[in-house]
Amino acid sequence: MALREILVVPDPVLKQVSKPVERVDDDLRALMDDMLETMYAAPGIGLAAVQIGVPHRVIVMDLAREGEPPAPRHFVNPEILWASEETAPYEEGCLSVPEIYDEVERPAKVKLRYLNYQGEAVEEEAEGLFAVCIQHEMDHLEGVLFIDHLSRLKREQAVKKVKKQAKAA
Ligand code: NI
Repeated sequence: MALREILVVPDPVLKQVSKPVERVDDDLRALMDDMLETMYAAPGIGLAAVQIGVPHRVIVMDLAREGEPPAPRHFVNPEILWASEETAPYEEGCLSVPEIYDEVERPAKVKLRYLNYQGEAVEEEAEGLFAVCIQHEMDHLEGVLFIDHLSRLKREQAVKKVKKQAKAA
């Protein structure tokens, strides 16, 4: 496994639409292992492959709380089959937009289909933080960041802040 560099705004790669994965093989599993290692080190709870510069439809996540054993999850070619009309707000952040947090409103529940680490097709319902996180990560696959859901002013301020941090680092 290896740590990868996480791209931050305004890196244009983050705006790319990710390509579907053709098959779940050892190369892809190695990528997912690197993604998890990178996500844990950040630390974060979700990461899309495009955030480490690989524009393929792959997401990793771990929603275990502090003190709980790790619960790594893998989503290849995820699709949303259904989304609730009911929405819920959540204060989101993103490893590609460090130190910025703001409220985004999304469907409260979704039904998903994806391939897991073994390449098996899974259908599953998500609510709560899982629903927030999978929708946030799936936005990444379309080149959309959570700040794209905010007003233009807030988005521009966020990018400016991240640029400033990068310069200071
Ligand atoms: Ni993100």
